[in-house]
Amino acid sequence: MDDRKFSVLIAGGGSTYTPGIVLTLLDHMKDFPIRKLKFYDNDAPRQKRIADATRIILKERAPEVEFVASTDPEEAFTDVDFVMAQIRVGKYAMRDQDEKIPLAHGVVGQETTGPGGIAYGLRSISGVIELVDYMEKYSPNAWMLNYSNPAAIVAEATRRFRPKSRIINICDMPIDIMDRMAAIVGLKDRNDLVFRYYGLNHFGWWTDIRDKTGKDLMPEIKKYVAKNGYWVGGEFDKNTEASWESTFKKAADVYALDPTTLPNTYLKYYLYPKYVVEHANPHHTRTDEVREHREKFVFDECDRITKNGTARDLTFKSDEHSTYIVDLCRAIAYDTKQRMLAIIPNYGAIENIDPTATVEVPCLFGANGAERLAMGQADTFQRGLITEQNCVEKLAVDAWEQHSYTKLWQAFSLCKIVPDAEVAKEILDDMIIANKDYWPELK
Ligand code: NAD
Ligand code: LMR
Repeated sequence: MDDRKFSVLIAGGGSTYTPGIVLTLLDHMKDFPIRKLKFYDNDAPRQKRIADATRIILKERAPEVEFVASTDPEEAFTDVDFVMAQIRVGKYAMRDQDEKIPLAHGVVGQETTGPGGIAYGLRSISGVIELVDYMEKYSPNAWMLNYSNPAAIVAEATRRFRPKSRIINICDMPIDIMDRMAAIVGLKDRNDLVFRYYGLNHFGWWTDIRDKTGKDLMPEIKKYVAKNGYWVGGEFDKNTEASWESTFKKAADVYALDPTTLPNTYLKYYLYPKYVVEHANPHHTRTDEVREHREKFVFDECDRITKNGTARDLTFKSDEHSTYIVDLCRAIAYDTKQRMLAIIPNYGAIENIDPTATVEVPCLFGANGAERLAMGQADTFQRGLITEQNCVEKLAVDAWEQHSYTKLWQAFSLCKIVPDAEVAKEILDDMIIANKDYWPELK
């Protein structure tokens, strides 16, 4: 009988996603039992507010689970089986700059896209590499599931600088979209869908979607998406924020560009940047919304639990979303070979794309980590887009490694949503000032 119980570390314990993940872990104690839950963050007061509430939740629901929250790497990373990494280097204060600086120059300002995403990437690389090194030092047999953004640039950096490390980079956007696809065709959940998908992170396409009997679901989903995008509405979308509603609906226009596939929502920023800028408020961006809603709600609720000393009337919900992270841990722990997406070195998965590109494709998850599945050839439209965007991501990592102003200027200029090199330079020069505490000094 397999009676193992696991020790899980959440790195970025102060993240707004932490309580949802804790509740998901507790929901899965039967199929993924844990003996220890640990938090690690480099912002002690922020993490403490979440940790104090978590301690109460655990005491009431799973007193057998040992809990440790620490800012000391050795204490946090010792005796760990899985690290769930969700850090945001520079926190919302810097995300705010990533969004507002490009918008001030008339360019899309977005967390993971364009100059904002590149700026965030140059902050995240050292933060995530530091986590990998702590894991290798204190728990060398552990696996890290990293969903710290921008995942594409982080994954390219770990491919290059930590090629042998046990880090798997993942993303929840396709998960969210597949939940929607399942709802559109009336299936219970996304795990009822068998799919083919290829691209880069936040930059990919489904080419085949079937149910478990092999029935082709693409025609029905396409018909729906052509009219409604991925917007489901009703009960399904009762908590979806307005900005996401517009993104899910805009997928109809993204789909129109290539009706042979179904797109990732993030492609709207690359294919309709003029529309995105025209509909943005340069003084109130997504960061403001997250601070006003998700961050406020999570921290207020944690403070309330701590003040009352009980979580019996908890309003947090287990984050259905984060079940994919638990699914991945379970797949690795029990060698289930579950088929899910990972952001992984290409090495032939997309035949006509640079083998050293970091791509997002379905993989079989098991005791060896993620084993990529071959997706065949990218069509010309996708190949052009992927090649350009992948070079942007590679140039960003070059710039970080070589401390090169020119490489970063090239990355900004090559980026599809930046109109010309002069605008790229203006944005870059503003961003160098804003990121002086985080970026390497560029020469
Ligand atoms: P957040 O700012 O609320 O939390 C991030 C935490 O990381 C903060 O507590 C911060 O102090 C900590 N941190 C920053 N740098 C660190 C470092 N070097 N070492 C240790 N801790 C550090 O952010 P959030 O909105 O909750 O997002 C967290 C991360 O998850 C982001 O990278 C975000 O893009 C990503 N993300 C994940 C999912 C998902 O699949 N669950 C979805 C969206 C976003
Ligand atoms: C976040 O909210 O921080 C991310 O989930 C992405 C977004 O803009 O909603």
